[in-house]
Amino acid sequence: MPAVPEEHRARLPRDLTVAPSILSADFSRLGAQVGEVLAAGARVIHVDVMDGHFVPPITFGAVVVGALADQIHAAGAIIDVHLMIERPERHVDELARAGADSITVHVEATPHLQYTLAAIRGAGCTAGAALCPGTPADSLSEVATDSLDLALCMSVNPGWGAQKFLPASLDKLARMRATLPETVALEVDGGIHRDTAPGAARAGANLLVTGSAVFGSGDPAAAYAEIAAAAGAS
Ligand code: DX5
Ligand code: ZN
Repeated sequence: MPAVPEEHRARLPRDLTVAPSILSADFSRLGAQVGEVLAAGARVIHVDVMDGHFVPPITFGAVVVGALADQIHAAGAIIDVHLMIERPERHVDELARAGADSITVHVEATPHLQYTLAAIRGAGCTAGAALCPGTPADSLSEVATDSLDLALCMSVNPGWGAQKFLPASLDKLARMRATLPETVALEVDGGIHRDTAPGAARAGANLLVTGSAVFGSGDPAAAYAEIAAAAGAS
């Protein structure tokens, strides 16, 4: 089992952190939009990769990760890649080479979860696994102790930004937090804004992904700061 280097693993925040998702950014000026949230203090930038199969939309991949990597790393931030793609194990090395720091795959997208998590660590990244809303909270039990750095609880069905937070996610987050090792970060993704972020944090999430609430607003930096303050994040 490749162990991710401790100094690398330590870069995945264990304290409460808001992670802007570029899915809702203005792609005609992506670098500037990312620069705005980095200047506001964002230390995790969430990148949603979709393949048109696991979820209907197609977004972007390693090329965009590579285009943003220097800017994000120069700010001391990390690139948190969320793969909503089938057979994600085929794309790990290319994303790692492009500059991904953390790579999360869906348990529903591969029969080879443990292999894929090991491959992610082997590529020098922290390894994450995501659960769709209909997937049981205990689905990570076989990999949590030895293979996992991050668990992602989807609080909407994956594929689109600006959906409504599913209230059942709060209880699911709490059950995931209660059973995951303390070393595993817990991320929530979907429908997070200033009113839903505090509850998700109370339920145990420490990485709060937020897309449309930040980049769909007129002022991403101010929106980021408002959500972080509402959640009690530093
Ligand atoms: C959706 C993506 C999310 C998306 C969240 O499938 O995984 O990261 O950007 O968008 P909001 O915050 O608008 O729900
Ligand atoms: Zn996401």
